[in-house]
Amino acid sequence: MRLHVVTFGCQMSVADGEELASPLKGRGFTAVAEPDTADAIVLNTCTVRQHAEDKALSLIGRLREWKDARPERVLIVAGCAAERLGPWIQKRFPYVDLVVGAKSIEDYPKIVEEALGARFDAMAETRSAFSEEAAKPDKPTGWSSPFSAFVTIMRGCNYSCSYCIVPAVRGRELYRPYETVMAEARTKVALGAKEITLLGQTVNSWNESGIRFPELLRRMGTIEGLERIRFESPHPYYVNDDLIEAMTTTKSVCEQLHLPIQSGSDRLLKIMRRNYDSASIIDKTARLRRAIPFVEVATDIIVGFPSETDEDFERTLDLVRLMKPSWSYTFKYSPREGTESAGMEDNVPAGVKEARLSRLNELCDKLTEDALSARVGQVVSVLDEEGGFGRTRDGFKVSWPESEPAGKLVKVRITGTSKRVLRGERDERA
Ligand code: 5AD
Ligand code: SF4
Repeated sequence: MRLHVVTFGCQMSVADGEELASPLKGRGFTAVAEPDTADAIVLNTCTVRQHAEDKALSLIGRLREWKDARPERVLIVAGCAAERLGPWIQKRFPYVDLVVGAKSIEDYPKIVEEALGARFDAMAETRSAFSEEAAKPDKPTGWSSPFSAFVTIMRGCNYSCSYCIVPAVRGRELYRPYETVMAEARTKVALGAKEITLLGQTVNSWNESGIRFPELLRRMGTIEGLERIRFESPHPYYVNDDLIEAMTTTKSVCEQLHLPIQSGSDRLLKIMRRNYDSASIIDKTARLRRAIPFVEVATDIIVGFPSETDEDFERTLDLVRLMKPSWSYTFKYSPREGTESAGMEDNVPAGVKEARLSRLNELCDKLTEDALSARVGQVVSVLDEEGGFGRTRDGFKVSWPESEPAGKLVKVRITGTSKRVLRGERDERA
């Protein structure tokens, strides 16, 4: 029996794919890369912006044909949009077999077994009558490659940023225990991971058994064979000297930090309830760069938040210019039902939002290009994830001609860039 997992949204959602697949794998399903041959599809949805939700809903609509072709097939819709819209999805798309929201992920195996156990038994019987012809295997879920794995350390969010639906669909913060997290990391390293990305909605607020996040990094750093540690997404509030110290002294922690600023206007940051101001972002970035001179920072920015003026937007451009993120994820404000800001008038005209976004993107693209060009001529250390494709410690993608199997840390001399990927060749002297 074959399972296809489709994920929309953040890395957290990608990592959840593993847990969503697990009870089906326990029932004998193997993961495949294409939906056509699948007997079951798990659709892991996102709702952070309307656009993300619309994409998931339109895919559910298109899967009607897939389901009609063999009605015994199983379609599970999970994740954040499922949490927000559960009963509506079930009504609108009656052919969906099970809708399970993001908050239910801990009970998910039980829910699946109760709802679909008998169906799986019947499927196993019919399918065993056929020989299973070869299908293209999927990438393992919860791993971005066989050498780079995710470890979820916390779920949910205790903040209440006024635009954000995450606390409503994922609930309050839940920290996975220290021992569990360390054991999972060790297991993944034993299975071949050279790189681990620790995940959580506000990953650096993790704090369990009296251990805070920076100390977790230090302790992870002692795992034999774990070459690189990354973490996503940190909240600026918990980017402090302790974290910077842990990043500086733990050799395997990569020289990169995602610092989502959202806006550079202190007036808007207050209304967004972000718990910091632009001066503290400037201060934190400066401290970080002093401690780790070659660190790369990335950020998230929203334009067109209710009441955003030209003046507010200029402050955002100013902050971006000072911060110099090498990667920026920019979004037009999207009102989400039930959030605080959905009660504010969405009064920045669409055309103005569009114009601000394109001005911002122009600046951000230029900074990305600068960061990429600065690498040309350098010899960088790359974890070869696919045989000639991988990432540097500070998060740049690199491609080079390679004939050896993937999985090694190699030195690559960068000769150029194209489409936001560094190109180069193996540096044999290294
Ligand atoms: N509208 C636009 N962007 C949003 N984000 C979160 N909520 C919204 C919203 N309502 C963006 C933020 C966040 C990223 C994951 O998505 O920038 O950091
Ligand atoms: Fe949303 Fe703010 Fe929590 Fe991030 S910190 S998930 S933006 S509420």
